[in-house]
Amino acid sequence: MSSQQSGFRVPRSRASQTHAAMRDEIEQAIEPILFGNMAESYAVRGRLESAFAAEVKQKYAVAVHSGTIGLFLALRACGITSGDEVITVGNSDISTTAAIRQCGAEPVLCDVLTDDYTINTELVEALLSPRTRALLPVDLYGHPANVKALRSLAQKHDLKIIEDAALATGAHDHGQPAGAFADATIFSFAPFKPLGSVGNGAMVVTNDDDIYEQLRRLTHYGHSADTTGVPSGHQHYVGEGYNVPLDGLQAAIVLTKLPYLKKWTAQRQAIAQAYHDGLKDTSARIPIFRPEASPTFRSYTICVEDQAGTYRYLRDAGIEVVLHYTPAIYKHIVYDQRPLINEQNLPVTDRLAESLICLPVTPELTKEDTRYVINKICNILK
Ligand SMILES: Cc1ncc(COP(=O)(O)O)c(C=O)c1O
Repeated sequence: MSSQQSGFRVPRSRASQTHAAMRDEIEQAIEPILFGNMAESYAVRGRLESAFAAEVKQKYAVAVHSGTIGLFLALRACGITSGDEVITVGNSDISTTAAIRQCGAEPVLCDVLTDDYTINTELVEALLSPRTRALLPVDLYGHPANVKALRSLAQKHDLKIIEDAALATGAHDHGQPAGAFADATIFSFAPFKPLGSVGNGAMVVTNDDDIYEQLRRLTHYGHSADTTGVPSGHQHYVGEGYNVPLDGLQAAIVLTKLPYLKKWTAQRQAIAQAYHDGLKDTSARIPIFRPEASPTFRSYTICVEDQAGTYRYLRDAGIEVVLHYTPAIYKHIVYDQRPLINEQNLPVTDRLAESLICLPVTPELTKEDTRYVINKICNILK
């Protein structure tokens, strides 16, 4: 959306500006899908899967319709089912807890770190029960959760790790792309994400042959890729699945944009650095990252005392700030009847939800844009 369209002087996204600069490449990519052989629509998805798997250094990638369905499929592919418990966080989109419940499992909420808003790995062991089957850390705003620290715990207790990297395409930790320490990881391609399509989309990646096979089947009706011995022309359903692959048009757009991911991630990081430098002496609390973490920034999220007042002031000043996620997920009426386990023990998550403000980060922001945001915040948070 351009700033004129959104009505904001500093909008959350100026992706249309980037799309305009890439017009020829994008048109060339979608042309054969619209006007060529129908098979191209499937072929381009396969090419995106291969290119994305290489980008995040994983063996397999399965392109699906959204991050929401990707989380559900990843949990199912990891064997999560009725009666299981999955440890996750309460400061995420509803997709995270909903995916767990939709598998018939129960989310168990773990508190997060004040510094970077990701799961507090030191609190996880105390939440284990005989029913715990998986851990689901979230790389909120593109900040890598410390999944490496969860790995030994997962090994010790035979747990799977499903990483929600919906907002973290382009992020690294310990020198590896996000997802390196998980059994399965999802990355969203929704338009406001670091690698956005123009509709919905996501990728689920894994290094595990069995998880991949399950993911593929569940995404494509339950149809097996292995048709050995199956008479020519016959279907071969080996399970009941869904029909949720990424469509060819979105795949073509994401594939065209993928080579620019490193450059855009660096631009996001530069904007975050400008916010850091400009705001570090204000009363806002700014995020602090582990030295091994190289976040990307879906937004730059600060904490302030007067959330409502600061939000209103910045929006009135033409800055498209958002409150992701306020209220915290466990405070929504959807969970009134069946509260989420451990939701009463999340003091840091509670405080965050009441104080966070997400500042715009989009690679197209200019120095003048960030200076404008910083000046406005300095005015209100002296
Ligand atoms: C942390 C997180 N996980 C998952 C999702 C779901 O992704 P999608 O919008 O692609 O369904 C979102 C969406 O914003 C998110 O913020």
